[in-house]
Amino acid sequence: MNRPDLPGKFAPGADPFAAHFVDPVLPGAVKTVTARLRETGLVTLSGLTTRAAVLDFARQLMDVQRQRDSGPDGLTAIDDTGQHLRWPRFSGQSSLVLSLHTEGSARVAPPRLMLLVCTEPAPQGGHSLLVDGRSLYAETEDCPEAVAALSNPRAGFFGRSGGTFAPVFAQHDGGQVPVRFRQDEFVRWHPLARLHLHALRMAAVRHQQMLTLEAGQGYLLDNRRWLHGRIAFDGARRCYRALGNPHEPAPPGFLPRSMGGGAA
Ligand SMILES: [Fe+2]
Repeated sequence: MNRPDLPGKFAPGADPFAAHFVDPVLPGAVKTVTARLRETGLVTLSGLTTRAAVLDFARQLMDVQRQRDSGPDGLTAIDDTGQHLRWPRFSGQSSLVLSLHTEGSARVAPPRLMLLVCTEPAPQGGHSLLVDGRSLYAETEDCPEAVAALSNPRAGFFGRSGGTFAPVFAQHDGGQVPVRFRQDEFVRWHPLARLHLHALRMAAVRHQQMLTLEAGQGYLLDNRRWLHGRIAFDGARRCYRALGNPHEPAPPGFLPRSMGGGAA
């Protein structure tokens, strides 16, 4: 999908919202969503028009964890407060673009699942951007130097004080590859990893998919597989976000091509 009115390029192919859609009110929806998360790491949803509906759905799938900016129920209302434009750590609470990233990348163990639902779309902009980490890894897999540099346990230092060293592509039992990435000032790279960042960023641009969320629509993703971001927006916009770990544990990330994971 290439939109002349939007910056960047977007991966061609079927509408990503339709391709990953599960209706949350259908019988067995939670089971279907759980299975899809294991297969593709991404589900799109609709009909979640209120905070209560978002919370109810999130609680069926994960232990909703309270966050710095969340309410007592664990949901974070994401809108432009008009007060966070100069505070990079709070850029999510502004109207600014958010580059593709892993949520909670500075934590030793980032949350496995992220649910984001839009209850009030912006009049202009605010579209969600998503990239499958398996697509990024597939472009890296043929370059052993890049795989080695980006899989180094000290490839990046994520966060500031209290942050953590971590690889972009980790190694997990069974060959699964969890992803961790961000592109702002809150990561410092190992010199060998830095050599491959430009190629990684270009791959992200080639593979990014855009979702235009209407009221009540959202996505649920495996935060150790998919990167997310958004474009800037004008006007009022509200989303709710839930973070947590799944009730039914599953290996994080994806199985790479070299381990029989098929084409990305
Ligand atoms: Fe985020």
